[in-house]
Amino acid sequence: MSPLLHPDLLRGRPVFVSGGGSGVNLAIARSCASVGADLAICGRTPETLELAAKELRELGASVVTAVADVRDPEAVDAALAIAGDRLGPMAGVVCGAAGNFLAPAERLSSNGFRAVVDIDLVGAFHVARAAFEQLRTTGGALLFVSGGQSTMSFIHQAHVSAAKAGVDALMRALALEWAPHGIRSNSILPGPVADTEGMRRLAETAGDDVWRGSVPLGRYADPAEIGTLAALLLSPLSGFVTGAQLVADGGMSLHGSGGFNDAVRAALSDT
Ligand code: COA
Repeated sequence: MSPLLHPDLLRGRPVFVSGGGSGVNLAIARSCASVGADLAICGRTPETLELAAKELRELGASVVTAVADVRDPEAVDAALAIAGDRLGPMAGVVCGAAGNFLAPAERLSSNGFRAVVDIDLVGAFHVARAAFEQLRTTGGALLFVSGGQSTMSFIHQAHVSAAKAGVDALMRALALEWAPHGIRSNSILPGPVADTEGMRRLAETAGDDVWRGSVPLGRYADPAEIGTLAALLLSPLSGFVTGAQLVADGGMSLHGSGGFNDAVRAALSDT
């Protein structure tokens, strides 16, 4: 799975992944399992979690699943407690659960804006806070799954931009505040990632070709490429890295979001 990483890189270092049942979060869980980590994954849908758990167990991991919506702080507290009881205190915690859809700001309801900020930003805070004691015990690491919207402007993504910029601000604040406890905090900013619900939603109006054209490397990321970087950031190989935003976008942030924005505008002018 991650043939260039040592197979014991995360052995004895359990990892919790919110939203770990699918998409880039499952890819992160997979990469961690492939280098020896046991996994706890949470999400809203039991069937999705169980399918993911089966796959992760086939990689040799012990896996705990917890049904929890990250917007519910008590459910998140319970999920972290079960994970710690069953696997030992977490050495890595990935705040990955996210929601996304394209919507023009002037027609986006308060609930719609709030749903994304609640899942991406408030939910990440719930997970980080619930994990604090376990991470303090292990001297562990937080990893936030941010996105290009944190630093680049995309039309019809005002809600996601606000949420992801907040995620990165939260990441840096916790890096500083929790450093004396030996806890590291970083984020990863993936560009377009193949085979994910998030990209399906973002590409449905603009089109796949527009995204590929916006990435200087000319392609989507393989989910395993993001997973491998996440495992690296959670591991002792990154022991002196905290407060960092790791951009893994094939160069898209150098090229900018103009192609996407033009394509969405053009698509909507036809409707
Ligand atoms: N355009 C505009 N508004 C939308 C929308 C869209 N495509 N999809 C949802 N909303 C609005 C709803 O209308 C609702 O607001 P309202 O009460 O004023 O009508 C609000 O968002 C909440 O929607 P709801 O479906 O009740 O929320 P939910 O909690 O079930 O779902 C979402 C959360 C909206 C983020 C949903 O898209 C989701 O569950 N996504 C998870 C999967 C995903 O996004 N994966 C990609 C990860 S990057």
